[in-house]
Amino acid sequence: MYINFWYPVGKSEEVKDDQPLRVQILGLKFVAFRDTEGVARVLSDTCIHRGGALGKGWVRDGCVICPYHGWEYQGDGKCRRIPTFGEDTALPARAKIDSYPTQEKYGIVFAFLGDLPEDERPTLFDIPEYDVDGWRVNDTVVFEVGAYYERSVENGLDAAHNEFVHPMQGAPTINETLRRHPIEIDEFPPWGSGFLVAFGKSMSEDTKVLGASEGTTRAGSAHHGPNTLITRIIFSDTRAFAQYFFEAPIDENRTRIFFVNIRSFMMEEEMDQKLIDMNMKIAGEDIAIIEALDPIRTPHCTTQEFLTPADRPIVRYREFLKDWEARGWRIDQKAFRAQRGDVALTIPSPDRRVHKNWVLDTIPLMAGD
Ligand code: FES
Ligand SMILES: [Fe+2]
Repeated sequence: MYINFWYPVGKSEEVKDDQPLRVQILGLKFVAFRDTEGVARVLSDTCIHRGGALGKGWVRDGCVICPYHGWEYQGDGKCRRIPTFGEDTALPARAKIDSYPTQEKYGIVFAFLGDLPEDERPTLFDIPEYDVDGWRVNDTVVFEVGAYYERSVENGLDAAHNEFVHPMQGAPTINETLRRHPIEIDEFPPWGSGFLVAFGKSMSEDTKVLGASEGTTRAGSAHHGPNTLITRIIFSDTRAFAQYFFEAPIDENRTRIFFVNIRSFMMEEEMDQKLIDMNMKIAGEDIAIIEALDPIRTPHCTTQEFLTPADRPIVRYREFLKDWEARGWRIDQKAFRAQRGDVALTIPSPDRRVHKNWVLDTIPLMAGD
């Protein structure tokens, strides 16, 4: 798991101005709420007084209030009121918690969980079809899987599993293509890579129903950062599915996935639920596989598994992970596990690069290059 990327925190309607939303991402708790301008704010959940869970408190006048002794925190993380201090007592500069940059897009509140200054931050993936004429967007679907998020992203970058995991999706033809042509990697610098392969000849009946014609259908996927997966199935010039999975690792074993599904055909409203049902059925087939993988977490090397040319997109993804580790962004899980329960930890926020004097320690990171 890595700091310094954008993570989905909640659907827009879950982030409110009168009650906090408490979520776990990267193994730590966060609280989300709206300030008096309606802007979504995301803070570290731990009250620095004596460890109260801010997400179990309440929101008033744009501040989140600790349920234990009523300390009030603004959206920028600064403490505005300590009830045991007199009204005329100045609050110490150290009375602050980490506040993270947010963006609200696709009906989702995202937080940048890291300390990079704005001009160095990886981007939140920009969906090209969103709010574009000729494309219909399904309501975002949120679901949890009992698997590590990298295993989930790698599953999405894997063209060779379709024949076995999704036999009803017309996939055997992809496999034929895979045997004859090595997968070419498309680079999307600086944060991603992927591939697009052509279907071969025989389409399954299911795929024909979706409007695919022989020889024209292409499918592929890509990653953006460690935790955004993009899948495209292009049946013809006018018929395509574009699917976006924004993944939030809850911890090392569980992932919350925000699924945005867009299409350029079957535009009727009543198709929305049918397509969600179809996609969740397919997702269920993937989930059954990835929840049983051994090891649970992705090996970050190419020798502890027997990788083949068809696994190239996965190998490329792991190279990106290595690069982000070299930058010092990878969480040191062993050290984190050893401290958990004894020390309250937080993800460093951008303000830590500017101001010193913080109460909580930051999560341990692997040494970069
Ligand atoms: S623990 Fe939060 S106010 Fe005391
Ligand atoms: Fe799959």
